[in-house]
Amino acid sequence: MKAIDLVIKGGTLINASEVIEADIGISDEKIALIGKNLEGKEIIDAGGLYVLPGAVDPHVHLEMPAGITTSSDDWQSGSIAAACGGTTTLIDFVEPENNQSLREAYMLRRQQAENKSVLDFGLHMTITNSEQNTLSQLPDLIEQGITSFKLYTTYTGFKLDDTQLLKVLNAIHKLEALAIVHSENDAIIQWRTQDLLKTDLNNPASHPLSRPETAEREAIHRILSLAEITRAFVYIVHISTRQGAEMVCHARLRGQKAFGETCPQYLLLDHSLYQQPDFEGAKFVCSPPLRKKSDTRALWQALSNGTIQVAATDHCPFFFKGQKDLGKDNFSKIPGGLPGVGLRLSLMYSYGVCGGHLSLNRWVETCSTAAARLFGLYPRKGCLLPGADADIVLFDPHKILTVRKDILHENVDYTPYEGMQLKGYPVMTIKGGKPIAKDGTFLDTKITGKYLARKLPDC
Ligand code: URP
Ligand code: ZN
Ligand code: ZN
Repeated sequence: MKAIDLVIKGGTLINASEVIEADIGISDEKIALIGKNLEGKEIIDAGGLYVLPGAVDPHVHLEMPAGITTSSDDWQSGSIAAACGGTTTLIDFVEPENNQSLREAYMLRRQQAENKSVLDFGLHMTITNSEQNTLSQLPDLIEQGITSFKLYTTYTGFKLDDTQLLKVLNAIHKLEALAIVHSENDAIIQWRTQDLLKTDLNNPASHPLSRPETAEREAIHRILSLAEITRAFVYIVHISTRQGAEMVCHARLRGQKAFGETCPQYLLLDHSLYQQPDFEGAKFVCSPPLRKKSDTRALWQALSNGTIQVAATDHCPFFFKGQKDLGKDNFSKIPGGLPGVGLRLSLMYSYGVCGGHLSLNRWVETCSTAAARLFGLYPRKGCLLPGADADIVLFDPHKILTVRKDILHENVDYTPYEGMQLKGYPVMTIKGGKPIAKDGTFLDTKITGKYLARKLPDC
């Protein structure tokens, strides 16, 4: 039998389907075996700790161009922040320029990440038109391991109309890939924004009014209808409303391969935060916006009952001073997006498990396993099983902490979760059998992440 390099001893192992007391033996960067009384060259004592598969965050925007600015975490700072918070796999986006082939855009984005990311990463491809010349490139991308395609129903330069959506969804269906969709009705947003700019130009509180929940419900319903017609597998990103979750629930009851994602900001924060004085509300500008408390409750329910499968972050940070204030004189110019990549696992334990919404298994499933399956990484990622990558988190369920911007490694001057109490925090993150973060400190900046060529979705 192969020599074991490292044993993680005496912890409580949590997978999406079981909780067991056992040791994990690691060799050659993989989990070699799981059992009792294992011996190895090195031992890590996990007594009293939960041992989890490294979390998978399938929705982040690192060094993403946004008008005249760029999201403030690059691949290095963003991946370090993620690692310290217990995430070991990231999936970000390729957003091709008009004159670029999809292959060229993918190669450039991959190189950018390979040079800097400390974590393994995958890429989704954004599709901004339905021309044959574009759709004919999809099989090559799937060969390269890009098996999910991002579509938008809003944002100039990105949005697709219904005919375009049908064509693209049809192409995605034929390849058995996954469509992932930002769903808000663009006409409603434009209509409302024009009105608000006449009266409440400078106020971040105009942001949620410009993107009402009806805009989300309508677009999710429409996307699901178009996906039903084309039989495409579809994943709705960042669902923010009860009505949005209901649309996914109804589609699933009709038998559609429809999936949903929400994020800690939509589970834990609400629209009252936009009322803060001194432009502070801008810190919470993201699209879709934060909603009512009743929506947060409905989203917890949807996550707990399986209507929504994934809790991702949509991490897209902008500095309050110097970036969010680009919209000081016009709320519609505030760059949209919130930081959060470093806190997801702990927030979802503190408020999901300790709040009575999620079992331990469901916590791991929503933060790790479901995304690994849907995005073609399972069982390499998202589980503690022999043969899986040894990406492992030791999590102390008793550690009490107050969120402060300074405990995080995100390259941004605030956290939307400032002052929130945490019960439970990752104390060690192991990647490929090597500890890379301990007690909130990153250990090894020389470590590099690998590009993950993903399989088709397991759904
Ligand atoms: O406001 C947000 N969510 N910004 C990030 C880009 C997106 O729409 O997901
Ligand atoms: Zn989006
Ligand atoms: Zn996003």
